[in-house]
Amino acid sequence: MIFCDPDLERQEYFQRLLESEEKRRRQERLRASDSFLGIRMAALCSRLGFRPDAGQKAVLESDSKRVILNCTRQWGKSSVTALKALHTALLAPKALVVAMSPSERQSGEFLLKVREYLAALGMEKLRGDGVNKLSILLPNGSRVVALPGVEATMRGYSAVDLLIVEEASRVKDAQYDSAGPMLAVKDGALWLISTPYGARGFFWREWELGGEEWLRLRVTAPECSRISAKFLASEQTRISADWYRQEYLCEFLGNENGPFHKELLEKAYDEGLEDLF
Ligand SMILES: Nc1ncnc2c1ncn2[C@@H]1O[C@H](COP(=O)(O)OP(=O)(O)O)[C@@H](O)[C@H]1O
Ligand SMILES: [Mg+2]
Repeated sequence: MIFCDPDLERQEYFQRLLESEEKRRRQERLRASDSFLGIRMAALCSRLGFRPDAGQKAVLESDSKRVILNCTRQWGKSSVTALKALHTALLAPKALVVAMSPSERQSGEFLLKVREYLAALGMEKLRGDGVNKLSILLPNGSRVVALPGVEATMRGYSAVDLLIVEEASRVKDAQYDSAGPMLAVKDGALWLISTPYGARGFFWREWELGGEEWLRLRVTAPECSRISAKFLASEQTRISADWYRQEYLCEFLGNENGPFHKELLEKAYDEGLEDLF
C-alpha cells in the first residue's frame, strides 16, 4: 500500500510552483539584460527618461579613460555616475564596475541609485555577488560593487572595467593610490567625481596637474539651469563666502595661510566627515 500524506504533497506542489516561478523570473531578467548588450548611452538615457543637459551628455557619451567632474552640489554627479556604471555593466557581459567613496553610507546610496535604474529597466530585486555586502550581480554576469572608504578593502580587485571615485576630494590619498592596480589588466576607465575640498589631495592634483589624458568638466551652480538664482542668493546669506565658493563655484581654496589651511582640513577630516555632506 502506498501511503500519501496530502499535506506533504501540497507542500511539494507549492514548492515546485515557487521554483518554476523563480525560474521564469530569472529567465525574464536574463532576456531583459540581454536586450541591452551593446546599447548606446543615448538609448539607455531615453529608456530611463533621463534627459541629460549638454555637460552631462558630453561626459556620458565620452569614451575617455580618465574623467574628472568638478561640479557643483546638485548638478547631477550621482545620477550621471550611476548611469555610467549601469551602462558599463549592461554593455558587455561579465563587466566589473567598482565605486568607492569616503563612507559606507554614500556607497550604499550610489548602489541604490543603480538599483533604481535597473528596476526601471525591468531588472528588479537582483542579488548581490555573494562576496561584497554592497554589490549587484546582473543577469549578464556583470557586477557593480560599492566599497566603503577603507583602504584594506580596496585590495583584491583586478580587471576592473570602470572605477568610480565619488566625493573624491574627501577620499584619502592612500585609498586612491591603492586602487590603481585594479585598472591595469583591462585598461579600465577611471572617473573622479566631486566638489572641491581645498587645494590638496589627489582630486586637486589630478585636476590641476594631471595632464591632458583627463577629460575635465567643471560646472558651477550659476551655470546649472536646474539651480535657481533665488536659491543661490539665499545660500550666499546662509553660508560663509568661502564655503559658497567651494560648494557652488567649484573653487579649490586655500594655501598655508588661507581659510583652508591644511591642518584645519585634516582636523575636519578626522573629526567625522560624514557630518559635512
Ligand atoms: N538632466 C537632468 N534632468 C532632470 N533632473 C536632473 C538632471 N540631472 C540631475 N537631476 C536632478 O538633480 C538632483 C541632484 O542630482 P544628484 O545626482 O543627486 O546631484 P549631485 O550628486 O551632483 O549632488 C536630483 O534630483 C536629480 O534627479
Ligand atoms: Mg551626489
